[in-house]
Amino acid sequence: MKILLGVTGSIAAYKAVEITSRLKKAGNEVKVIMTANATKFVSKRTFAEISKNAVSVDMFSEPDYKAEHIELASWADLVLIAPATANIIAKIANGIADDTLSTTILATKAPVIICPAMNTNMLSNTATQTNLKTLTQRGIEIIEPATGILACQTVGKGRLPEPAEIVEKILNHQNKKPLPMKLLVTAGATIEPIDPVRYITNHSTGRMGYAIATQAIKRGAEVILISAKAELQPPEGVKFIKAETALEMHDKVLEHFNSVDAVIMTAAVSDYRVKNISTQKIKKSADTLTLELVKNPDILKELGKVKTKQKLIGFAAETENLLENAQRKLREKNLDFIVANNVTQAGAGFAADTNIATFISKTGQVQNLPKMSKLSLADEILNLLIER
Ligand code: C5P
Repeated sequence: MKILLGVTGSIAAYKAVEITSRLKKAGNEVKVIMTANATKFVSKRTFAEISKNAVSVDMFSEPDYKAEHIELASWADLVLIAPATANIIAKIANGIADDTLSTTILATKAPVIICPAMNTNMLSNTATQTNLKTLTQRGIEIIEPATGILACQTVGKGRLPEPAEIVEKILNHQNKKPLPMKLLVTAGATIEPIDPVRYITNHSTGRMGYAIATQAIKRGAEVILISAKAELQPPEGVKFIKAETALEMHDKVLEHFNSVDAVIMTAAVSDYRVKNISTQKIKKSADTLTLELVKNPDILKELGKVKTKQKLIGFAAETENLLENAQRKLREKNLDFIVANNVTQAGAGFAADTNIATFISKTGQVQNLPKMSKLSLADEILNLLIER
């Protein structure tokens, strides 16, 4: 992707150097426009070296003047402004074009993403807030500033988020092709009752499945979310179906299977259930208590046997022999893809907001993904459905 990076005069301008470097490493071409004030913080040469492209500042400086702003405006697939001062935000909101950056932004048809960075009072000032609202209404994406210690020695909202975070959002932006399909997503932890007050369950929070449903809706898919225990709000726009036990989930999934194009099974389904559920609360008596468990149906395996056009994506949350176990499950359940993750790794697994996954396809391709937010991973998983 061709990314035009606008750098304005904020102390955070140095972070834009790392943004440039990370975007380049991810395979993008980057061209930088700096405002005159930005060059007071970081030199033009630094960006030129890292981006391997000439950096524009002054519209009229070239001996052979050409309409560079128009050229850059149409060259870009995406315009990112990081850091964006209150000044550039006000100029864009009002259509002011008085230097290379503001003129290029006015001339571009590419999507624009803005990362405001400034003192808390400047940020909360009604003028800035109104301008940001105007930009959002025009479809410009705003990456929210972070809260922390600011350069002015105050603590508050206004910091430029970490370059890695910004770059992740940008890369994610590339990954949002429309998904014109009907999807069934399962999520959460099933519960298997023991008696009217007790049950067997697991640590799944449902976040991965809800993230997939959220991103799929945003990309235009029709989504049925069948959820076991999860303390989350169902995303707006999904058809939401509650299923508590493995048997209930089995029935609900099979009921809808024929009408969907793909199933993404993130639910942590209990492998066993209690054979005889007590109708009354079990009383404390003997020193030991034995519960007899019987096997639950493997929902995904059943789908694998009857699937026609449907793509099936399963999850393998493992604590050991990740690849071998995941590959075996992919085969045994006749899946198209399996998303394997080692739940003992820091930043992966159940309650985390991030995950570290490996995709394995039925054709044997293995793709290791870096640690990323569950929302970003959700988009990567959805891409499997359209790219292959
Ligand atoms: O439990 P296991 O590791 O085999 O789970 C792998 C995949 O199979 C997951 O996608 C899970 O949702 C699904 N599964 C299922 N029915 C079960 C157990 C697991 O569909 N009874």
